[in-house]
Amino acid sequence: MSQNSSDQTYDEVVTGRRSIRGFLDRPVPRALIEEVIALATRAPSSYNNQCWNFTVVTGDPLAAIRQGNTEGILAGQPDSREFRRHDHTPDSHRARQVAVAKQLFGAMGIEREDKAGRQDWMMRGFRQFDAPVSIVVTYDREILGSDIAPFDCGAVTNALVNAAWSRGLGCVINSQGIMQSPVVREHAQIPEDQVIMICVAMGWPEPDFPANAVVSERRPLDETARFIGFDD
Ligand SMILES: Cc1cc2nc3c(=O)[nH]c(=O)nc-3n(C[C@H](O)[C@H](O)[C@H](O)COP(=O)(O)O)c2cc1C
Repeated sequence: MSQNSSDQTYDEVVTGRRSIRGFLDRPVPRALIEEVIALATRAPSSYNNQCWNFTVVTGDPLAAIRQGNTEGILAGQPDSREFRRHDHTPDSHRARQVAVAKQLFGAMGIEREDKAGRQDWMMRGFRQFDAPVSIVVTYDREILGSDIAPFDCGAVTNALVNAAWSRGLGCVINSQGIMQSPVVREHAQIPEDQVIMICVAMGWPEPDFPANAVVSERRPLDETARFIGFDD
């Protein structure tokens, strides 16, 4: 695994960053997290609304979130994430989900028929991969229903994971971690005027954790981009 150091170019950050799902048992200084969030909030937003807010959680409150999220899921509590979800997954999307899952399970040595291994991996996800820090990204409830809010939160969250990577930190944007959103709201003390969008698990990457080396595929440019009116 190539190390993410603090003197990378923009290209090195963007092409080197990958989701990190194994973390060292080492705290992240608050000042560094502040620096990363400050960088991330240079992200553009609609009319410069900056509808986002961050709740940075560590220690006992994060442990309580992990426990509550895990217990709720094991007890069969319904998904209570605060964003709309699609009912149908297109085949092309499913294929890409399967591809990255195969890469991750392959790296971790989890076989297709290893149900316990797969379940263990899922549960790690619900525990935010035991990261030392979780950043809960929320937005102002006053604009609930606007698609702009998730758009702006996406922009700032992408900026956040790249800023973290540029400082040697690793992240995984983690929808599993907010599956039981009331638990997150309670222990992270998120006020009712905020809608929970996502959480980001953050910490120092464990260099020998196999899944951290996985580089996920991207669709080729000739499939994702069309150029209209160009001469070249
Ligand atoms: C909105 C969103 C939610 C995600 N939720 C999860 C999650 O719950 N668990 C997980 O392991 N990865 C999660 N990811 C990470 C994606 O799987 C990952 O970004 C994708 O496979 C591309 O890999 P890369 O980040 O290494 O480039 C999420 C990413 C996004 C953008």
